Amino acid sequence: MARLGVNIDHVATIRQARGGNEPDPVAAAAIAELAGADGITIHLREDRRHIQDRDLRLIRETVKTRLNLEMAATEEMIGIALSVKPDMCTLVPEKRQELTTEGGLDVRVNLQQVTSAVERLQDGGLIVSLFIDPDPDQVKAANKVGADYVEFHTGTFADAPDWKREEEELLRIGNAVKLAAKLGIGVNAGHGLNYANIKKVAALGGIEEFNIGHSIISRAVLVGLDRAVRDMVDLIKYA
Ligand code: PXP
Repeated sequence: MARLGVNIDHVATIRQARGGNEPDPVAAAAIAELAGADGITIHLREDRRHIQDRDLRLIRETVKTRLNLEMAATEEMIGIALSVKPDMCTLVPEKRQELTTEGGLDVRVNLQQVTSAVERLQDGGLIVSLFIDPDPDQVKAANKVGADYVEFHTGTFADAPDWKREEEELLRIGNAVKLAAKLGIGVNAGHGLNYANIKKVAALGGIEEFNIGHSIISRAVLVGLDRAVRDMVDLIKYA
């Protein structure tokens, strides 16, 4: 069975909306693990819009499963990764204005920068994954730069406007998984996966880990709201 990595950036996004200290992504990581998550994924962005350096430090210390750090291939982030030592580094493209990671890393175009980042992280004993579109040329480029893993961007599949396009995307992902396996590269997948579409991708087989955030945190807000309101009603009632 494939593993589930829970992306808890969205918990930090809610905290940052008030600039306070709740909800704490460190507590969210512990709860996700208690519920059966196989790993915790966080993205330390250059602009620190959600996850903070303090979160990374504490989550590294407290995670009992595996920590996957999503990061841009910059000097600053490579330095942080080499000192914090996550169990996996996933290199992602990062644009300041984007709402979330849009599209995969273009390994072919950024061959030199990616090669150097992969080498430096691996020399520091880290496992490196590249977040790429399920495109055979990108898989071959990932192989060329010596990546240990690729994470296929499932956003185009998740956003497919009709079932035909969804089927096409699924086929594309399936073929990319086969090619990566043939080249000896490990395969993860993520982005836009939710309670309605996960079964189709999981049924493809060959994917080691799914990294899922938005749909899980969205569901947590809705399924947790009933209890949260009842707790407050009780506090007022029994004051
Ligand atoms: N994998 C990567 C590399 C990502 O950048 C993200 C989004 O932060 C995810 C997985 C999770 O995507 P989502 O929040 O849509 O589940």
